[in-house]
Amino acid sequence: MAELSEQHVRNPRADISEGALATARGRLTDRGIDPDPIVGTGELGGDVTVADFYTMLGMVAATEKAGQAPTHAMARLALHTDLPSEVADTLYLAYMQQSAEEAGHGDKVFGNAYFAMGGAAPGADSSAVGNPAQAFLAPGDDRKQNKVRLGGMAGLLGGIETVALNRVFPIFVAWCERWDHPIARDLLTQIQETVRPEESRHVLNWRYVFHTMIAPKGDAVIKAFYESTNRGRATLGSPPIDFETFTRMHGASAPTVRQLLGKERVAFN
Ligand SMILES: [Fe+2]
Ligand SMILES: [Fe+2]
Repeated sequence: MAELSEQHVRNPRADISEGALATARGRLTDRGIDPDPIVGTGELGGDVTVADFYTMLGMVAATEKAGQAPTHAMARLALHTDLPSEVADTLYLAYMQQSAEEAGHGDKVFGNAYFAMGGAAPGADSSAVGNPAQAFLAPGDDRKQNKVRLGGMAGLLGGIETVALNRVFPIFVAWCERWDHPIARDLLTQIQETVRPEESRHVLNWRYVFHTMIAPKGDAVIKAFYESTNRGRATLGSPPIDFETFTRMHGASAPTVRQLLGKERVAFN
């Protein structure tokens, strides 16, 4: 199955073949769900039906699940850098938490809704930020080089998070609100109560990296982080943000550990 892309937000049927749509309609019908009600409009026009929504859900589930492995690897890489231990420890905790949350979004939230509609969500294998990233994120002997790689991946993932939070989820919420069905109501609750607050914190991880690792290093490193962010956005077919927006999104200072983790950190020394 194709990955979720912003292209689908603008024109939901862009990459969905007639065959895939026919399969979707069959699965939904088998579950006693009408595939034809209209739940929204693509930004380039064209109706979004329950069958399109179903197909998008499968893509979102796979893409969310794909976030689990690289963030897990990043957490461990953080402990093999020359960063101050306070920063490295915070990044470890924040990325471990993000990894668990992305798995939850993929499996428990979107994968669950997709299953309720008749499908088994595809795996994360085809993701742009999934398996190919693993070798790149394995810690090497050079702690400074490990830090550079961590920063590059943090920019890329941050770019993806900005698209998820500001583009993809609002549209899903709108479609859920319009589709009058218990599956939609349940998904809506989970997006609002769980996914959105967690995604907001994932964007804060990107901000934390910026203020602790990137900004102090000066213009060239900031520019590289900015470019990584836009490369991340591009993996979802999303347009780049301009430098002013990038700067504004980072705010004046790093988020606190409490903001990053959504709770106080347990003191262990
Ligand atoms: Fe997520
Ligand atoms: Fe996320």
